[in-house]
Amino acid sequence: MPTLKQLAVATLTHLAESGCERMAVDDEARGILRQWMLDARKTPEPRPAAQPSEPEMSVEEKLVYLRRRAADWKPAKRLGTLRETMVFAVGNPRARLMLVGEAPGYEEERQGEPFVGPAGQLLTRILGAMGLQRSDVYISNVCKFRPSMGENQGTANRAPNPEELAACSPLIMAEIRAIQPECIVCLGGSSAKGLLGTQQGVSALRGQWLECQGVPVRVTYHPSYLLRNEALSARRALWEDMLAVMQRLQMPISEKQQNYFR
Ligand code: URA
Repeated sequence: MPTLKQLAVATLTHLAESGCERMAVDDEARGILRQWMLDARKTPEPRPAAQPSEPEMSVEEKLVYLRRRAADWKPAKRLGTLRETMVFAVGNPRARLMLVGEAPGYEEERQGEPFVGPAGQLLTRILGAMGLQRSDVYISNVCKFRPSMGENQGTANRAPNPEELAACSPLIMAEIRAIQPECIVCLGGSSAKGLLGTQQGVSALRGQWLECQGVPVRVTYHPSYLLRNEALSARRALWEDMLAVMQRLQMPISEKQQNYFR
């Protein structure tokens, strides 16, 4: 049973994460908050095991809650550089494998689902080559809104900038804590920046296991990079990253799969 103080901290954390910067409190509440602050300085209270703003819920309930919060995510809205429509995630909440891209594009915004445009169709084929369907994995983006390019944007897309990635990153971090996948694949440099806080590019990051919130992460090329660059070496590089993921998940790998793009 949470204490009154833990409930108050959870509520205030939730408000702060939703973009609330000020609130009116009466003298009595101010006195209590001040006393808690002084007590905390003397004896830091052990943090409760669960994140305060993510109450005890099933993974499905957590995702419903996060989807609702994402739709009105003030830190992103406040920037004024992202479009209105929120595109959340798709797939299996109990997936072992989570794939994270950068941001929805024209087709994703139109259909309200990540990775359904040309890059998404290629991703679906890559998953198929691994012996997986979209419904076996969890697919999401670091940035939940299509970055805006002004009134005449049409079908054009752009990558999210560092402010946009930072504004949205608490959402993907909460999704990772909810799903607890065995392994994450970052698709492209923006995804790696958002999840790992790195400035390094994909070429420097791929080929090794990294970590985000205790979950092993593999960085690979974004499928749209492969659509622009049809070189066999690029396809082989992405496939090698996926083979490493399959190995990590102890999935069967046939000789044919082992030798794709060789
Ligand atoms: N590119 C991404 O990074 N995410 C999508 O959802 C679609 C294209």
